[in-house]
Amino acid sequence: MTQHWWQHATVYQIYPRSFQDSNGDGIGDLPGIISRLDYLAVLGVDALWLSPVYQSPNADNGYDISDYQAINPEYGTMADMTRLISEAAKRNIKIVMDLVVNHTSDEHPWFVSARQGSDRSTRDYYVWADPVDGHVPNDLTSGFIGGSAWQWDAESEQYFLHLFSEKQIDLNWQNPKLRQAIYRMMNFWIDKGISGFRMDVIDMIAKEPLNKVLVNGPRLHEYLHEMNRQTWADRDFLTVGEAWSASPQDALRYSDERHQELSMIFQFGHLWADRRIGGDKWEEHPLDVEQLKNALYACQTTMATHGWNSLFWNNHDLPRAVSRFGTTGPQRELSAKMLAITLHGLKGTPFIYQGEEIGMTNCPVNSIDQVDDVEARTIYRQLRQRGDDADAAMQKINVFNRDNARTPMQWNDDPYAGFSTTQPWLSVNPNYREINVASAQARRQSLWWVYKKLIALRHQEPVLQNGKFEALTSVPASVMAYTRTWKQTQWLVCGNYSAQAVSVKLPQSKATLVISNYPDGPGQLGQTVLRPYEAFIVALN
Ligand code: GLC
Ligand code: CA
Repeated sequence: MTQHWWQHATVYQIYPRSFQDSNGDGIGDLPGIISRLDYLAVLGVDALWLSPVYQSPNADNGYDISDYQAINPEYGTMADMTRLISEAAKRNIKIVMDLVVNHTSDEHPWFVSARQGSDRSTRDYYVWADPVDGHVPNDLTSGFIGGSAWQWDAESEQYFLHLFSEKQIDLNWQNPKLRQAIYRMMNFWIDKGISGFRMDVIDMIAKEPLNKVLVNGPRLHEYLHEMNRQTWADRDFLTVGEAWSASPQDALRYSDERHQELSMIFQFGHLWADRRIGGDKWEEHPLDVEQLKNALYACQTTMATHGWNSLFWNNHDLPRAVSRFGTTGPQRELSAKMLAITLHGLKGTPFIYQGEEIGMTNCPVNSIDQVDDVEARTIYRQLRQRGDDADAAMQKINVFNRDNARTPMQWNDDPYAGFSTTQPWLSVNPNYREINVASAQARRQSLWWVYKKLIALRHQEPVLQNGKFEALTSVPASVMAYTRTWKQTQWLVCGNYSAQAVSVKLPQSKATLVISNYPDGPGQLGQTVLRPYEAFIVALN
Protein backbone atom coordinates (compact mmCIF):
# COMPACT_ATOMS: atom_id res chain seq x y z
CA MET A 1 0.00 0.00 0.00
CA THR A 2 1.60 3.24 -1.03
CA GLN A 3 1.44 5.84 1.63
CA HIS A 4 1.59 9.58 1.23
CA TRP A 5 3.31 11.55 3.96
CA TRP A 6 0.06 13.29 4.75
CA GLN A 7 -1.68 10.00 5.52
CA HIS A 8 0.14 9.65 8.82
CA ALA A 9 0.60 13.36 9.42
CA THR A 10 -1.10 15.89 11.65
CA VAL A 11 -1.37 19.43 10.30
CA TYR A 12 -1.36 22.49 12.54
CA GLN A 13 -3.14 25.61 11.31
CA ILE A 14 -1.54 28.97 12.08
CA TYR A 15 -3.42 32.23 11.84
CA PRO A 16 -0.30 34.36 11.36
CA ARG A 17 -1.84 37.59 12.62
CA SER A 18 -2.45 36.01 16.01
CA PHE A 19 0.29 33.44 16.55
CA GLN A 20 3.41 35.34 17.67
CA ASP A 21 4.46 38.96 17.34
CA SER A 22 8.23 39.43 17.13
CA ASN A 23 8.63 43.20 16.80
CA GLY A 24 6.18 44.63 19.29
CA ASP A 25 3.61 46.07 16.88
CA GLY A 26 0.81 43.86 18.19
CA ILE A 27 0.58 41.85 14.97
CA GLY A 28 1.83 38.30 14.59
CA ASP A 29 4.50 37.78 11.94
CA LEU A 30 6.78 35.30 10.18
CA PRO A 31 9.81 35.78 12.46
CA GLY A 32 7.37 35.12 15.30
CA ILE A 33 6.36 31.81 13.73
CA ILE A 34 10.02 30.89 13.23
CA SER A 35 10.67 31.56 16.91
CA ARG A 36 7.94 29.04 17.78
CA LEU A 37 9.08 26.22 15.48
CA ASP A 38 10.75 24.42 18.35
CA TYR A 39 7.46 24.44 20.20
CA LEU A 40 5.70 22.95 17.17
CA ALA A 41 8.42 20.33 16.79
CA VAL A 42 8.00 19.28 20.42
CA LEU A 43 4.26 19.00 19.91
CA GLY A 44 5.14 16.75 16.98
CA VAL A 45 3.12 18.21 14.12
CA ASP A 46 4.21 17.41 10.56
CA ALA A 47 3.01 20.45 8.64
CA LEU A 48 1.83 23.99 9.18
CA TRP A 49 -1.03 25.43 7.19
CA LEU A 50 -0.54 29.20 7.19
CA SER A 51 -3.60 31.34 6.65
CA PRO A 52 -2.70 33.92 3.97
CA VAL A 53 0.54 35.85 4.42
CA TYR A 54 0.53 37.48 0.98
CA GLN A 55 0.32 41.18 0.29
CA SER A 56 -3.18 42.31 1.07
CA PRO A 57 -5.10 45.44 2.07
CA ASN A 58 -6.69 43.22 4.76
CA ALA A 59 -10.34 43.80 3.98
CA ASP A 60 -10.76 40.17 5.07
CA ASN A 61 -7.49 39.63 6.93
CA GLY A 62 -5.49 38.39 3.97
CA TYR A 63 -8.25 36.53 2.11
CA ASP A 64 -8.15 39.50 -0.26
CA ILE A 65 -4.80 39.22 -2.01
CA SER A 66 -3.25 42.07 -3.97
CA ASP A 67 0.01 40.24 -4.84
CA TYR A 68 0.31 36.45 -4.70
CA GLN A 69 4.09 36.57 -4.94
CA ALA A 70 4.82 39.10 -2.22
CA ILE A 71 4.60 38.89 1.56
CA ASN A 72 2.44 41.29 3.53
CA PRO A 73 5.01 43.69 5.08
CA GLU A 74 3.16 43.43 8.40
CA TYR A 75 4.26 39.79 8.45
CA GLY A 76 7.80 40.22 7.12
CA THR A 77 9.60 39.75 3.85
CA MET A 78 10.06 37.07 1.21
CA ALA A 79 13.43 36.37 2.87
CA ASP A 80 11.57 35.62 6.12
CA MET A 81 9.29 33.26 4.22
CA THR A 82 12.25 31.43 2.68
CA ARG A 83 13.80 31.16 6.12
CA LEU A 84 10.56 29.83 7.58
CA ILE A 85 10.43 27.09 4.94
CA SER A 86 14.03 26.04 5.56
CA GLU A 87 13.94 26.33 9.36
CA ALA A 88 10.74 24.28 9.39
CA ALA A 89 12.33 21.67 7.11
CA LYS A 90 15.23 21.28 9.57
CA ARG A 91 12.63 20.18 12.09
CA ASN A 92 10.82 17.91 9.63
CA ILE A 93 7.92 20.32 9.40
CA LYS A 94 6.37 21.11 6.03
CA ILE A 95 4.65 24.30 4.97
CA VAL A 96 1.17 24.40 3.45
CA MET A 97 0.11 27.74 1.98
CA ASP A 98 -3.41 29.10 1.71
CA LEU A 99 -4.41 29.38 -1.95
CA VAL A 100 -7.11 32.02 -2.43
CA VAL A 101 -7.98 31.88 -6.11
CA ASN A 102 -11.73 32.27 -6.18
CA HIS A 103 -11.20 36.02 -5.96
CA THR A 104 -8.48 38.66 -5.63
CA SER A 105 -8.38 42.00 -3.91
CA ASP A 106 -9.73 44.92 -5.95
CA GLU A 107 -6.20 46.29 -5.50
CA HIS A 108 -4.60 43.40 -7.38
CA PRO A 109 -2.91 44.75 -10.55
CA TRP A 110 -5.00 42.30 -12.58
CA PHE A 111 -8.17 44.02 -11.46
CA VAL A 112 -6.75 47.52 -11.60
CA SER A 113 -5.87 47.02 -15.26
CA ALA A 114 -9.06 45.09 -15.96
CA ARG A 115 -10.92 48.25 -14.99
CA GLN A 116 -8.80 50.96 -16.44
CA GLY A 117 -5.68 49.65 -18.10
CA SER A 118 -5.20 50.77 -21.67
CA ASP A 119 -4.63 47.25 -22.96
CA ARG A 120 -7.19 45.62 -20.69
CA SER A 121 -5.43 42.31 -21.21
CA THR A 122 -6.66 41.08 -17.85
CA ARG A 123 -10.25 42.23 -18.33
CA ASP A 124 -11.50 38.68 -18.76
CA TYR A 125 -9.69 37.49 -15.66
CA TYR A 126 -12.84 38.67 -13.87
CA VAL A 127 -16.56 38.17 -14.24
CA TRP A 128 -18.32 41.01 -16.08
CA ALA A 129 -21.98 41.31 -17.04
CA ASP A 130 -24.14 43.77 -18.93
CA PRO A 131 -27.12 45.38 -17.23
CA VAL A 132 -30.48 43.72 -17.77
CA ASP A 133 -33.26 46.27 -18.31
CA GLY A 134 -30.99 48.88 -16.80
CA HIS A 135 -30.47 46.86 -13.63
CA VAL A 136 -28.20 44.26 -12.04
CA PRO A 137 -28.27 40.97 -13.96
CA ASN A 138 -29.83 39.04 -11.06
CA ASP A 139 -30.36 39.02 -7.31
CA LEU A 140 -27.11 37.41 -6.16
CA THR A 141 -26.00 38.92 -2.86
CA SER A 142 -22.64 39.45 -1.25
CA GLY A 143 -22.14 37.21 1.75
CA PHE A 144 -19.96 39.54 3.76
CA ILE A 145 -21.46 42.97 3.26
CA GLY A 146 -25.07 42.32 2.28
CA GLY A 147 -26.61 43.92 -0.79
CA SER A 148 -26.02 42.98 -4.39
CA ALA A 149 -22.99 40.94 -5.39
CA TRP A 150 -22.87 42.96 -8.61
CA GLN A 151 -21.12 46.29 -8.65
CA TRP A 152 -21.44 48.87 -11.40
CA ASP A 153 -18.34 50.00 -13.25
CA ALA A 154 -19.28 53.35 -14.77
CA GLU A 155 -16.35 53.51 -17.13
CA SER A 156 -17.09 50.29 -18.99
CA GLU A 157 -20.83 50.28 -18.25
CA GLN A 158 -20.71 46.74 -16.99
CA TYR A 159 -21.09 45.05 -13.64
CA PHE A 160 -18.41 43.00 -11.92
CA LEU A 161 -19.04 40.32 -9.33
CA HIS A 162 -18.03 40.12 -5.66
CA LEU A 163 -19.63 37.29 -3.73
CA PHE A 164 -17.68 38.16 -0.57
CA SER A 165 -16.81 41.76 0.32
CA GLU A 166 -16.69 44.63 -2.22
CA LYS A 167 -12.90 44.31 -2.04
CA GLN A 168 -12.87 40.62 -3.02
CA ILE A 169 -13.53 40.41 -6.74
CA ASP A 170 -14.49 37.06 -8.27
CA LEU A 171 -12.12 35.60 -10.84
CA ASN A 172 -13.30 34.11 -14.11
CA TRP A 173 -12.01 30.55 -14.26
CA GLN A 174 -13.56 29.99 -17.66
CA ASN A 175 -10.69 32.02 -19.07
CA PRO A 176 -7.78 29.66 -19.85
CA LYS A 177 -5.31 32.57 -19.58
CA LEU A 178 -6.39 33.22 -16.01
CA ARG A 179 -5.99 29.54 -15.19
CA GLN A 180 -2.48 29.51 -16.62
CA ALA A 181 -1.57 32.62 -14.61
CA ILE A 182 -2.76 30.89 -11.44
CA TYR A 183 -0.79 27.73 -12.20
CA ARG A 184 2.38 29.78 -12.80
CA MET A 185 1.91 31.43 -9.44
CA MET A 186 1.36 28.04 -7.77
CA ASN A 187 4.53 26.70 -9.37
CA PHE A 188 6.44 29.70 -8.04
CA TRP A 189 5.50 28.58 -4.52
CA ILE A 190 6.06 24.91 -5.19
CA ASP A 191 9.56 25.76 -6.44
CA LYS A 192 10.15 27.69 -3.24
CA GLY A 193 9.76 24.41 -1.36
CA ILE A 194 6.27 24.38 0.06
CA SER A 195 4.55 21.01 0.47
CA GLY A 196 0.89 21.76 0.05
CA PHE A 197 -2.00 24.10 -0.52
CA ARG A 198 -5.19 24.65 1.41
CA MET A 199 -7.63 25.92 -1.19
CA ASP A 200 -10.02 28.63 -0.14
CA VAL A 201 -13.70 28.15 -1.17
CA ILE A 202 -12.55 25.87 -3.96
CA ASP A 203 -16.08 24.63 -4.67
CA MET A 204 -16.92 28.11 -6.01
CA ILE A 205 -14.31 28.56 -8.73
CA ALA A 206 -16.46 27.07 -11.50
CA LYS A 207 -19.42 29.32 -10.74
CA GLU A 208 -21.84 30.37 -13.47
CA PRO A 209 -23.24 33.50 -11.87
CA LEU A 210 -25.66 34.38 -14.66
CA ASN A 211 -27.30 30.99 -14.12
CA LYS A 212 -26.99 31.49 -10.37
CA VAL A 213 -24.76 28.45 -10.04
CA LEU A 214 -22.30 29.39 -7.31
CA VAL A 215 -20.89 26.08 -6.07
CA ASN A 216 -20.11 22.81 -7.83
CA GLY A 217 -20.19 24.38 -11.27
CA PRO A 218 -20.15 21.94 -14.19
CA ARG A 219 -16.43 22.39 -14.93
CA LEU A 220 -15.16 22.27 -11.33
CA HIS A 221 -13.54 18.84 -11.49
CA GLU A 222 -12.11 19.52 -14.92
CA TYR A 223 -10.32 22.59 -13.53
CA LEU A 224 -8.99 20.73 -10.51
CA HIS A 225 -7.65 17.89 -12.62
CA GLU A 226 -5.99 20.38 -14.93
CA MET A 227 -4.50 22.24 -11.95
CA ASN A 228 -3.16 18.99 -10.51
CA ARG A 229 -1.52 18.01 -13.80
CA GLN A 230 0.06 21.42 -14.33
CA THR A 231 1.42 22.02 -10.87
CA TRP A 232 2.13 19.42 -8.18
CA ALA A 233 1.41 16.24 -10.17
CA ASP A 234 4.89 14.75 -9.83
CA ARG A 235 5.29 15.42 -6.09
CA ASP A 236 3.96 13.99 -2.87
CA PHE A 237 2.00 17.12 -2.13
CA LEU A 238 -0.89 17.81 0.25
CA THR A 239 -3.93 19.56 -1.18
CA VAL A 240 -7.03 20.23 0.85
CA GLY A 241 -9.97 22.11 -0.60
CA GLU A 242 -12.41 24.08 1.48
CA ALA A 243 -15.85 22.98 0.27
CA TRP A 244 -18.78 24.12 2.37
CA SER A 245 -21.22 22.67 -0.15
CA ALA A 246 -19.73 19.18 -0.31
CA SER A 247 -21.63 16.03 0.62
CA PRO A 248 -19.64 12.91 1.57
CA GLN A 249 -20.10 11.77 -2.04
CA ASP A 250 -18.65 15.05 -3.30
CA ALA A 251 -15.73 14.62 -0.90
CA LEU A 252 -15.01 11.28 -2.52
CA ARG A 253 -15.23 12.82 -5.98
CA TYR A 254 -12.57 15.41 -5.10
CA SER A 255 -10.24 13.04 -3.28
CA ASP A 256 -10.52 9.79 -5.22
CA GLU A 257 -6.91 9.30 -6.31
CA ARG A 258 -8.04 7.77 -9.60
CA HIS A 259 -9.31 11.19 -10.69
CA GLN A 260 -6.07 13.05 -9.88
CA GLU A 261 -7.62 16.06 -8.22
CA LEU A 262 -7.06 16.83 -4.51
CA SER A 263 -5.72 14.85 -1.56
CA MET A 264 -8.81 15.68 0.49
CA ILE A 265 -11.31 18.40 1.24
CA PHE A 266 -12.73 20.04 4.33
CA GLN A 267 -16.26 18.74 4.46
CA PHE A 268 -18.45 20.53 7.00
CA GLY A 269 -21.30 18.05 7.56
CA HIS A 270 -20.54 17.45 11.23
CA LEU A 271 -20.44 21.17 11.93
CA TRP A 272 -24.17 21.49 11.24
CA ALA A 273 -25.01 19.38 14.27
CA ASP A 274 -25.80 22.50 16.32
CA ARG A 275 -27.34 24.51 13.49
CA ARG A 276 -30.60 24.13 11.64
CA ILE A 277 -29.65 22.38 8.39
CA GLY A 278 -30.13 24.76 5.51
CA GLY A 279 -30.75 27.49 8.06
CA ASP A 280 -28.50 30.28 9.08
CA LYS A 281 -25.31 29.73 11.02
CA TRP A 282 -26.07 32.57 13.41
CA GLU A 283 -29.04 30.75 14.77
CA GLU A 284 -28.16 28.35 17.52
CA HIS A 285 -29.74 24.99 17.89
CA PRO A 286 -29.15 22.41 20.62
CA LEU A 287 -26.28 20.07 19.72
CA ASP A 288 -27.55 16.83 18.22
CA VAL A 289 -24.79 14.29 18.89
CA GLU A 290 -26.52 11.67 16.78
CA GLN A 291 -26.36 14.02 13.81
CA LEU A 292 -22.73 14.84 14.55
CA LYS A 293 -21.80 11.16 14.61
CA ASN A 294 -23.75 10.32 11.49
CA ALA A 295 -22.05 13.09 9.56
CA LEU A 296 -18.58 11.98 10.61
CA TYR A 297 -19.39 8.32 10.02
CA ALA A 298 -20.81 8.99 6.55
CA CYS A 299 -17.45 10.42 5.49
CA GLN A 300 -15.61 7.47 7.01
CA THR A 301 -17.64 4.88 5.15
CA THR A 302 -17.87 6.80 1.88
CA MET A 303 -14.10 7.12 1.77
CA ALA A 304 -13.29 3.65 3.09
CA THR A 305 -11.59 2.37 -0.06
CA HIS A 306 -10.90 5.41 -2.21
CA GLY A 307 -10.52 9.04 -1.33
CA TRP A 308 -9.32 10.49 1.95
CA ASN A 309 -10.80 12.38 4.91
CA SER A 310 -9.73 15.50 6.70
CA LEU A 311 -10.50 15.56 10.43
CA PHE A 312 -11.10 18.89 12.15
CA TRP A 313 -13.21 20.61 14.77
CA ASN A 314 -12.45 24.24 14.13
CA ASN A 315 -10.49 26.79 12.14
CA HIS A 316 -10.16 30.55 11.80
CA ASP A 317 -13.78 30.84 10.61
CA LEU A 318 -15.41 28.78 13.33
CA PRO A 319 -16.07 28.99 17.05
CA ARG A 320 -13.66 27.25 19.38
CA ALA A 321 -14.43 23.51 19.57
CA VAL A 322 -14.47 23.24 23.34
CA SER A 323 -16.94 26.13 23.64
CA ARG A 324 -19.14 24.59 21.02
CA PHE A 325 -19.12 20.83 21.60
CA GLY A 326 -17.62 20.50 25.08
CA THR A 327 -17.84 22.70 28.15
CA THR A 328 -15.99 25.80 29.33
CA GLY A 329 -16.82 24.96 32.96
CA PRO A 330 -14.63 22.98 35.36
CA GLN A 331 -14.59 20.02 32.97
CA ARG A 332 -13.17 22.06 30.10
CA GLU A 333 -10.00 20.05 29.68
CA LEU A 334 -11.76 16.75 30.20
CA SER A 335 -14.29 17.55 27.49
CA ALA A 336 -11.61 18.89 25.13
CA LYS A 337 -9.65 15.66 25.56
CA MET A 338 -12.79 13.71 24.70
CA LEU A 339 -13.22 15.74 21.50
CA ALA A 340 -9.57 15.20 20.59
CA ILE A 341 -9.59 11.46 21.24
CA THR A 342 -12.82 10.74 19.38
CA LEU A 343 -11.77 12.81 16.34
CA HIS A 344 -8.14 11.68 16.13
CA GLY A 345 -9.25 8.04 16.34
CA LEU A 346 -10.88 8.35 12.92
CA LYS A 347 -9.27 7.64 9.57
CA GLY A 348 -7.93 10.72 7.81
CA THR A 349 -5.58 13.63 8.33
CA PRO A 350 -6.19 15.57 11.55
CA PHE A 351 -5.94 19.37 11.51
CA ILE A 352 -5.36 21.20 14.78
CA TYR A 353 -6.16 24.91 14.90
CA GLN A 354 -3.72 27.01 16.95
CA GLY A 355 -4.67 27.06 20.62
CA GLU A 356 -6.92 24.00 20.31
CA GLU A 357 -4.13 21.97 21.93
CA ILE A 358 -4.54 23.98 25.14
CA GLY A 359 -8.33 24.22 24.94
CA MET A 360 -8.60 27.92 24.10
CA THR A 361 -12.20 29.10 24.31
CA ASN A 362 -14.49 31.56 22.58
CA CYS A 363 -14.05 35.17 23.59
CA PRO A 364 -17.37 36.99 23.91
CA VAL A 365 -17.31 40.79 23.70
CA ASN A 366 -19.73 43.46 24.91
CA SER A 367 -20.13 45.66 21.90
CA ILE A 368 -19.81 45.55 18.14
CA ASP A 369 -16.97 48.11 18.34
CA GLN A 370 -14.79 45.35 19.72
CA VAL A 371 -15.43 43.13 16.69
CA ASP A 372 -12.96 43.03 13.79
CA ASP A 373 -14.57 40.38 11.58
CA VAL A 374 -16.12 41.87 8.44
CA GLU A 375 -18.79 39.18 8.32
CA ALA A 376 -19.91 39.60 11.94
CA ARG A 377 -20.13 43.37 11.57
CA THR A 378 -22.50 43.00 8.65
CA ILE A 379 -24.63 40.41 10.38
CA TYR A 380 -24.87 42.70 13.40
CA ARG A 381 -26.22 45.50 11.23
CA GLN A 382 -28.72 43.15 9.64
CA LEU A 383 -29.86 41.75 12.99
CA ARG A 384 -30.44 45.28 14.28
CA GLN A 385 -32.39 46.20 11.14
CA ARG A 386 -34.56 43.13 11.66
CA GLY A 387 -35.44 44.39 15.12
CA ASP A 388 -33.00 42.74 17.54
CA ASP A 389 -31.86 45.09 20.29
CA ALA A 390 -28.12 45.53 20.86
CA ASP A 391 -27.94 42.85 23.56
CA ALA A 392 -29.84 40.25 21.58
CA ALA A 393 -27.74 40.91 18.49
CA MET A 394 -24.47 40.72 20.44
CA GLN A 395 -25.56 37.45 22.00
CA LYS A 396 -25.88 35.90 18.53
CA ILE A 397 -22.66 37.51 17.31
CA ASN A 398 -20.74 36.12 20.26
CA VAL A 399 -21.67 32.55 19.36
CA PHE A 400 -20.33 32.56 15.81
CA ASN A 401 -18.16 35.66 15.46
CA ARG A 402 -15.00 34.53 13.66
CA ASP A 403 -12.95 36.64 16.08
CA ASN A 404 -13.61 33.89 18.66
CA ALA A 405 -10.92 31.84 16.95
CA ARG A 406 -8.67 34.77 16.11
CA THR A 407 -7.72 36.13 19.53
CA PRO A 408 -3.95 35.91 20.12
CA MET A 409 -2.30 32.64 20.99
CA GLN A 410 -1.96 32.23 24.75
CA TRP A 411 1.65 31.32 25.45
CA ASN A 412 2.08 32.20 29.09
CA ASP A 413 0.71 34.45 31.85
CA ASP A 414 2.82 37.50 30.99
CA PRO A 415 0.92 40.62 29.91
CA TYR A 416 -0.62 40.00 26.47
CA ALA A 417 -0.14 36.28 27.04
CA GLY A 418 3.41 36.27 25.68
CA PHE A 419 2.00 36.98 22.23
CA SER A 420 3.26 40.55 22.12
CA THR A 421 4.73 43.27 24.30
CA THR A 422 1.95 45.67 23.41
CA GLN A 423 -1.84 45.74 23.04
CA PRO A 424 -2.48 43.30 20.14
CA TRP A 425 -4.63 44.03 17.09
CA LEU A 426 -7.38 41.94 18.71
CA SER A 427 -7.55 41.70 22.48
CA VAL A 428 -6.24 38.63 24.27
CA ASN A 429 -8.89 36.43 25.85
CA PRO A 430 -8.87 37.42 29.57
CA ASN A 431 -8.67 33.74 30.55
CA TYR A 432 -5.02 33.56 29.39
CA ARG A 433 -3.69 33.57 32.94
CA GLU A 434 -5.26 30.16 33.42
CA ILE A 435 -5.24 28.80 29.85
CA ASN A 436 -1.78 29.04 28.32
CA VAL A 437 0.94 26.87 26.80
CA ALA A 438 3.41 27.22 29.67
CA SER A 439 0.96 26.00 32.28
CA ALA A 440 -0.32 23.22 30.01
CA GLN A 441 3.17 21.90 29.31
CA ALA A 442 3.99 21.96 33.01
CA ARG A 443 1.07 19.67 33.94
CA ARG A 444 1.60 16.10 32.73
CA GLN A 445 -2.19 15.50 32.84
CA SER A 446 -3.07 18.45 30.62
CA LEU A 447 -4.87 18.48 27.28
CA TRP A 448 -1.61 19.46 25.59
CA TRP A 449 -0.04 16.10 26.45
CA VAL A 450 -3.05 14.28 25.04
CA TYR A 451 -2.60 16.08 21.72
CA LYS A 452 1.11 15.29 21.74
CA LYS A 453 0.35 11.63 22.28
CA LEU A 454 -2.37 11.50 19.61
CA ILE A 455 0.04 13.01 17.08
CA ALA A 456 2.70 10.44 17.98
CA LEU A 457 0.18 7.59 17.72
CA ARG A 458 -0.74 8.76 14.21
CA HIS A 459 2.92 8.37 13.24
CA GLN A 460 3.43 5.00 14.86
CA GLU A 461 0.28 2.97 14.52
CA PRO A 462 -0.77 1.45 11.21
CA VAL A 463 -4.19 0.74 12.70
CA LEU A 464 -4.73 4.47 13.13
CA GLN A 465 -3.42 5.28 9.67
CA ASN A 466 -5.13 2.56 7.68
CA GLY A 467 -7.48 0.61 9.92
CA LYS A 468 -10.97 -0.09 8.65
CA PHE A 469 -13.60 2.01 10.39
CA GLU A 470 -16.74 0.44 11.80
CA ALA A 471 -19.36 2.25 13.88
CA LEU A 472 -20.82 0.61 16.96
CA THR A 473 -24.53 1.05 16.58
CA SER A 474 -26.95 0.56 19.49
CA VAL A 475 -25.04 2.83 21.81
CA PRO A 476 -26.83 5.77 23.50
CA ALA A 477 -27.17 8.93 21.42
CA SER A 478 -24.54 10.81 23.42
CA VAL A 479 -21.87 8.15 22.93
CA MET A 480 -19.52 7.91 19.99
CA ALA A 481 -18.04 4.43 19.67
CA TYR A 482 -16.30 2.79 16.75
CA THR A 483 -13.60 0.28 15.99
CA ARG A 484 -10.56 0.50 13.75
CA THR A 485 -9.18 -2.77 12.44
CA TRP A 486 -5.89 -3.49 10.73
CA LYS A 487 -4.62 -7.06 10.31
CA GLN A 488 -4.63 -8.63 13.79
CA THR A 489 -5.08 -5.33 15.61
CA GLN A 490 -8.43 -3.97 16.65
CA TRP A 491 -8.90 -0.72 18.54
CA LEU A 492 -12.05 0.61 20.10
CA VAL A 493 -12.54 4.38 20.31
CA CYS A 494 -15.23 5.54 22.68
CA GLY A 495 -16.37 8.92 24.00
CA ASN A 496 -19.24 10.26 26.05
CA TYR A 497 -20.36 13.65 24.71
CA SER A 498 -22.45 14.36 27.77
CA ALA A 499 -21.86 15.80 31.23
CA GLN A 500 -23.80 12.84 32.68
CA ALA A 501 -22.57 9.32 33.27
CA VAL A 502 -24.08 6.86 30.83
CA SER A 503 -24.17 3.10 30.62
CA VAL A 504 -23.16 1.48 27.36
CA LYS A 505 -22.84 -2.05 26.06
CA LEU A 506 -19.40 -2.54 24.54
CA PRO A 507 -17.95 -5.74 23.04
CA GLN A 508 -17.05 -8.40 25.66
CA SER A 509 -13.28 -8.16 25.66
CA LYS A 510 -10.22 -7.46 27.68
CA ALA A 511 -9.03 -3.96 26.96
CA THR A 512 -5.48 -2.64 26.87
CA LEU A 513 -5.40 1.08 27.33
CA VAL A 514 -3.93 3.20 24.54
CA ILE A 515 -5.05 6.64 25.72
CA SER A 516 -7.78 8.03 27.95
CA ASN A 517 -8.90 11.24 29.60
CA TYR A 518 -9.48 9.76 33.05
CA PRO A 519 -6.36 8.39 34.74
CA ASP A 520 -7.82 4.87 34.66
CA GLY A 521 -9.43 3.44 31.54
CA PRO A 522 -11.55 0.27 31.53
CA GLY A 523 -9.60 -2.98 31.91
CA GLN A 524 -12.52 -5.10 30.88
CA LEU A 525 -15.34 -4.20 28.49
CA GLY A 526 -18.92 -5.41 28.27
CA GLN A 527 -21.59 -3.41 30.12
CA THR A 528 -19.58 -0.30 30.93
CA VAL A 529 -20.41 2.96 32.67
CA LEU A 530 -18.86 5.98 30.99
CA ARG A 531 -18.21 8.90 33.31
CA PRO A 532 -19.00 12.50 32.26
CA TYR A 533 -17.09 13.28 29.04
CA GLU A 534 -15.08 10.08 29.44
CA ALA A 535 -13.15 8.98 26.36
CA PHE A 536 -10.59 6.30 25.64
CA ILE A 537 -8.93 4.25 22.98
CA VAL A 538 -8.28 0.63 23.92
CA ALA A 539 -6.84 -2.33 22.06
CA LEU A 540 -9.22 -5.29 22.15
CA ASN A 541 -7.77 -8.69 22.95
C1 GLC B 1 -12.95 31.13 3.27
C2 GLC B 1 -11.96 31.57 4.33
C3 GLC B 1 -12.52 32.77 5.02
C4 GLC B 1 -12.67 33.86 4.01
C5 GLC B 1 -13.52 33.41 2.82
C6 GLC B 1 -13.38 34.34 1.67
O1 GLC B 1 -14.13 30.68 3.79
O2 GLC B 1 -11.67 30.51 5.19
O3 GLC B 1 -11.73 33.19 6.10
O4 GLC B 1 -13.26 34.97 4.60
O5 GLC B 1 -13.14 32.15 2.35
O6 GLC B 1 -12.09 34.26 1.15
CA1 CA C 1 4.70 42.06 14.38
